[in-house]
Amino acid sequence: PNDADALAGMHFSAATAAFQIEGARTAAGRGRSIWDDFVDAPGNVIDGSPAEPGPDSFHRFDEDIALLAGLGVDRYRFSISWTRVIPNVGTDASVNPAGLDYYDRLVDGLLAAGITPEPTLYHWDLPVALEASGGWLNRDTVHRFGDYTEVVADRLGDRVRHWYTINEPASTSLQGYALGELAPGQTLLFEALPTVHHQLLAHGIAAPILRENGAVQAAPTLNHSLILPASEAADDQAAAGLLDVIHNRLFTDPLLLGTYPDLSAFGVELPIEDGDMELISAPNEVYGFNYYNPTTVRASEGPLPFEMVPTPGAPVTGFGPMWPIRPDTMRDFLIDMARRYESALPPIIITENGASFPEPDTTDTEISDSDRIDYLRDHLGAVIEAKEAGVRIDGYTVWSLLDNFEWADGWSQRFGLVHVDMRTGTRTPKASFRWYRDLISAARS
Ligand code: FCB
Repeated sequence: PNDADALAGMHFSAATAAFQIEGARTAAGRGRSIWDDFVDAPGNVIDGSPAEPGPDSFHRFDEDIALLAGLGVDRYRFSISWTRVIPNVGTDASVNPAGLDYYDRLVDGLLAAGITPEPTLYHWDLPVALEASGGWLNRDTVHRFGDYTEVVADRLGDRVRHWYTINEPASTSLQGYALGELAPGQTLLFEALPTVHHQLLAHGIAAPILRENGAVQAAPTLNHSLILPASEAADDQAAAGLLDVIHNRLFTDPLLLGTYPDLSAFGVELPIEDGDMELISAPNEVYGFNYYNPTTVRASEGPLPFEMVPTPGAPVTGFGPMWPIRPDTMRDFLIDMARRYESALPPIIITENGASFPEPDTTDTEISDSDRIDYLRDHLGAVIEAKEAGVRIDGYTVWSLLDNFEWADGWSQRFGLVHVDMRTGTRTPKASFRWYRDLISAARS
């Protein structure tokens, strides 16, 4: 009951992303993205899973809407696939009506169920022809993103008012362009830094287009992690400071203050042009905040000056030692961020939080995922403590509604409130689904 009082008035949502749930990679004129290339090249995805059929939400979105209605969320965060909308962007700017029709039906279905759609325009599925000319290293990609935003806003802006622009630019830059763990699989190390600026600028260009088309919310979603030094040693402390800049401040500072932190240690200049910082730092209605775990680092000889190590003493998720469970670090990060940025920080929406645990591929009965319930309850507890400390947090979103394609980990990591049999698409709500439903209903009553 105390928790319910503390959560009263919050928005509750669940999240997914297009490439992770839609399947149907060649249906209805969809073009290829860097994730199609990444998946089709053997060895990239741990279990070799092909990302389809999986949840197959392209064909089964009605079931997703029914699940969301049963859950009682007032919002649903999904993403729009750029290459369903403009299949061959980079070589041919033609719009694919069948792709737009899909999102049109999804939006109408959500609205009919009383659920506010909150699409993300870019959740990692960059069109292949844009990657061929440099991807997020190339400033032209920003302008193509602006064109795409115009097309989508023109079609959906009469009904969609809540938008997210780009998801987790830190993951794209660090894991996609610097370390090669995610698509496009480049290993540029610090030479990847320009991709940060171009993604932030893509947000800066898209947000005013969305607002001109009726948006009341147009914000990026940023993934943050509290960085912990592995020891008291000065070099470990310095390594933690560097990673905090790269992972957190590199995004919060330009968005909220209009300046980048000092990057001289990295020896790379950002490709900033006149007017860019004004676009990037234009105020947003909310701050989209994704949080999963802290990161413990020690100093390293290379290739990067820091190396991630397990967090001592913390329980772990299905990913093992590198995904420790430390809800206190989410609370501390939120409180520190609110202190640091003061009035420049708009109300926060937690746009992703959740965990994977080992679960069977098929099931006939409800999975009793008490470890997930504990994770979510404890992180909501962290949200409540941050609110009590004065941080304004207006919404909470579980990653994910459904088990889905977990990028380079394929179907081997399950995050859903709903179990999905990846071969048949059968959806079976887990115990955490009932738990979240009851929490939402208590917070509303
Ligand atoms: C986030 C991604 C999301 C999902 C979760 C587990 O980094 O935004 O797509 O994969 O991690």
